[in-house]
Amino acid sequence: MLKLFEIVEDKSPKDRIDELRKDIERYNYYYYTKNESLVSDIEFDKLLKELEELEKKYPEYKIENSPTNYVGATSLKESKFKKVVHKKPMLSLNNSYNITDVIAFTERVEKNIDSVQNELEYVLELKLDGASISVTYENGELLRAVTRGDGVEGEDVTENILAIESIPNFLKEAVSLEVRGEIVLPLSRFKTLNEERLELGEEIFANPRNAASGTLRQIDSEIVKERGLDAYFYFIVDAEQYGFKTHKESLEYLEKIGLKTTGVADLITDMSIMEKRIAFWEAEKENLDYETDGLVIKLNDITLWEEVGYTTKSPRWAIAYKFPAKQVTTELLGITWQVGRTGKVTPVAELKEVELSGSKVKRASLHNMDEIIRKDIRVGDRVFIEKAAEIIPQVVSSVKEVRTGAEKEVVVPTNCPVCNSVLEKEDGLVDLKCVNPSCPAIIQGSIEYFVSRDAMNISGFGSKIVERMLQLHYIKDITDIFELHQHKDELMTLDKMGEKSVEKLLGSIEKSKSRPYSKTLYALGIPFVGKFLGDVLAKKSKSIDVLASMSKEELLEIDGVGEKVAESVYNYFRDEKSLEIIQKLKSFGVNFGKVAEDKKDEVKVEGKFTGKTFLFTGKLQKFKREEIKDLIESLGGTNLSSVSKKLDYLIVGEDAGSKLKKAEELGTVKILTEDEFLELTKE
Ligand code: IVH
Repeated sequence: MLKLFEIVEDKSPKDRIDELRKDIERYNYYYYTKNESLVSDIEFDKLLKELEELEKKYPEYKIENSPTNYVGATSLKESKFKKVVHKKPMLSLNNSYNITDVIAFTERVEKNIDSVQNELEYVLELKLDGASISVTYENGELLRAVTRGDGVEGEDVTENILAIESIPNFLKEAVSLEVRGEIVLPLSRFKTLNEERLELGEEIFANPRNAASGTLRQIDSEIVKERGLDAYFYFIVDAEQYGFKTHKESLEYLEKIGLKTTGVADLITDMSIMEKRIAFWEAEKENLDYETDGLVIKLNDITLWEEVGYTTKSPRWAIAYKFPAKQVTTELLGITWQVGRTGKVTPVAELKEVELSGSKVKRASLHNMDEIIRKDIRVGDRVFIEKAAEIIPQVVSSVKEVRTGAEKEVVVPTNCPVCNSVLEKEDGLVDLKCVNPSCPAIIQGSIEYFVSRDAMNISGFGSKIVERMLQLHYIKDITDIFELHQHKDELMTLDKMGEKSVEKLLGSIEKSKSRPYSKTLYALGIPFVGKFLGDVLAKKSKSIDVLASMSKEELLEIDGVGEKVAESVYNYFRDEKSLEIIQKLKSFGVNFGKVAEDKKDEVKVEGKFTGKTFLFTGKLQKFKREEIKDLIESLGGTNLSSVSKKLDYLIVGEDAGSKLKKAEELGTVKILTEDEFLELTKE
């Protein structure tokens, strides 16, 4: 009886095989074509393994193009680039997750070698998380660069590869060879790139790998240049033909001819040392300026590679060791709809508290309703959350297998959760919007934005105080901030607002009137005009009156201004309410630039740091990052974003990592502590 029940309950092997195949194909499609991970690596490997085992047990249900037979494919059908067949297929690697898996791998290697003479040696390398590339040089000159694609055929992205500074057009020797490596976006660049994208209202990149692989497929190689990609090589195709006996030798040769490697190639024979080195890199990877998702272990003796052999997907002489995932699962308790200063209403996941990459997480981003539907996320679900390099945690997927049936579908709000007015969904956009200009959430958001450090830099205006002042009607919009002194006595009676703090607040308000025009412009909160564009527009217009009178065409001529921004700025200055606000702010003495005199934003300051370049790294104790940047610029210096020969000074905080190492290697950079830097400013 029981048996019969089981058969009815369970899926037939054929159905399960079909289901697994479909799921894996979908995950592959998202991963390789859309650069998006719908499931964690561990989850993916589990499904693939289940499929492999079922196919072995029931070979009659295995189809030829099962995902167990090929490397996940990038859809080449929609490709804008010329397709090129790889001379040798670009293989993938098998994954391992612990030292037992690694030892099992080395035992398999040994078993495949007829007569093992000496102890086998392995090379331990970093596994870079980027986009793989195959580059062909002919007589020392770069001929072609091709993405992995489906492993057999890739896209010709030569133009874009030439725009990457660290890939030489000419090698130091006139050799002909094909090399393989990884294109990555340095973490520091990734961070600034996302900041810029946030400002422009563009979708941010979920992780550096997405950013690297998206950038590589840009039609315009100028964009590739600006993004600042980097490249590291780890493989020479048919290395044996060039006389190399070991993989390590071939890596050293890459360096010798001018191709960058990570420089990490530990030679290991003993598995207890392997375990120690794995643990070492797991901690050390946090200090690198590129994302690594694990290590790669390769048999060092190239002459044995053929004998050890290959599967259809991967070499048997190498294995990837994946670091524990930065993803964890937790329960989705509910969803809060947040109203931002622009009226955008976004869903935030309220989670059962969980630890992720060393911090406690209770909330995560769900982006928008379309994402919730696409990922089929329900309240009560067990969800995967992840933290991609320095961004707020986000919900990646839900685990459908453990649903009890009690989970509830997310309901789209029709009314603003704060002011209850009917929400709008803009045509073509997925965002819900509250369009009530008097919505307290919008007003509160715009005031907090206006007083923030990068804008008017008014201190003493915490969100609780703003809320209280709104309730008491001391402020109704940003202009009222400059009349707060009329409420001085009442302010002093407010909770936690003694005479001193009121004086300080009013003093800070007064001081803010002379903020540079680029900052006051940013503070207005014109849609899409963030820090970066605030600077650009201020430099060009020199005064708000000039900016307000510009036509859309004139705005479009400014570097960095596209259709969306031009439209937004143009419309802003044609709105009665905005003009009224600017007029009022001007009457209080807020600086909005002057055509003739106020050239602060345009002309570089001359000072003791003129002509000198600076960069800081590690945790600074005495300065906030923006403060130190401002200080350097106010003395005429220039801030750089990476260590290069152009760098004069590196200011080092606590736990400095790869930047310090690189600066030391260069030998031309002066390395300063924060105190030494302070001395320098005074000299
Ligand atoms: S060796 C036959 N070495 O990881 C040689 N791959 O999951 C196969 N990767 O497709 C590649 N760092 O894109 C190798 N040090 C490294 C690597 C590395 C990153 C990537 C590469 C490969 C994928 C396999």
